[in-house]
Amino acid sequence: MPNKQVRKVVFPVAGMGTRFLPASKAVPKEMLPVVDKPVIQYAVEEAKRAGIEQFIFVTGRGKHVIEDHFDHAYELESLLSEREKTDELRSLLEDLPKTGSVSFTRQQQPLGLGHAVWCARHFIGNEPFAVILPDDLVKAEPGVLSQMIAAYAKTGGNLVAVQDVPRERTKSYGIIAPGATRGDLTEVMGLVEKPKPAVAPSTLAIVGRYILQPELFDELERQKPGSGREIQLTDSMAKLIGRQPFHAVRFKGDRYDCGDKVGFLLANVALALDRPDLAPAFRQGLAALLKN
Ligand code: G1P
Repeated sequence: MPNKQVRKVVFPVAGMGTRFLPASKAVPKEMLPVVDKPVIQYAVEEAKRAGIEQFIFVTGRGKHVIEDHFDHAYELESLLSEREKTDELRSLLEDLPKTGSVSFTRQQQPLGLGHAVWCARHFIGNEPFAVILPDDLVKAEPGVLSQMIAAYAKTGGNLVAVQDVPRERTKSYGIIAPGATRGDLTEVMGLVEKPKPAVAPSTLAIVGRYILQPELFDELERQKPGSGREIQLTDSMAKLIGRQPFHAVRFKGDRYDCGDKVGFLLANVALALDRPDLAPAFRQGLAALLKN
């Protein structure tokens, strides 16, 4: 049994969103809505449902609206109250994280995902923590992080969420070298960031959910740039293998890459079809479109 609960999550949200221009020129890509909620809110809700208490955002220039989104909006709240829009007001207030539970720090240079996570080290201190990459929106019940925390109660150590991808796609992901498998849990024997299909050790790709031990920060501290000449989280995680338990969780759920235009559109369709208030009309409209 691991002796420390996972209480903190890091959201690396400093990326420029170049795959999403022009939409992401003045609006952070994490604030683009899937149905009627910004992408980042799905990630925060998943973390909350998994019992996380502290939310650390690693941001960058132009990302201040993310801070505003997780704060009171007094003018809006008083307007809703005056107009007796009680449902809207209640839902806005329910979505707010508890006072003092949200922190922001900046990644001052775009040096890679590993560097972004390292920027959060003082907020994490000496305890295990989760990382969620908000671009990876996963429709799952329970949420992926909840599934991982259940697994962590048995394994301790480090965990990554994985899914099988077509071999030609290995070059877009961190790929694990799998060891023994029991149910949904696979031992991780090695990790490679974005390997070419011919040399990939498997087709099990990391999806943006991690539970990590604080010793990772020592590795990140001295990590040399890797794939794409960036400081890669995967490379530092690989150094913990053999020193600490390391497992991959094949989670149950549907993943949408919201950093990609098609993935983002599919997420909108899938989540709209799930909404009782929207689905009937949306299904009809969609069927008519698909007929043409
Ligand atoms: C990052 C990670 C990669 C992981 C992927 C999941 O890559 O470096 O290991 O598989 O997220 O979305 P990125 O998509 O930032 O290039």
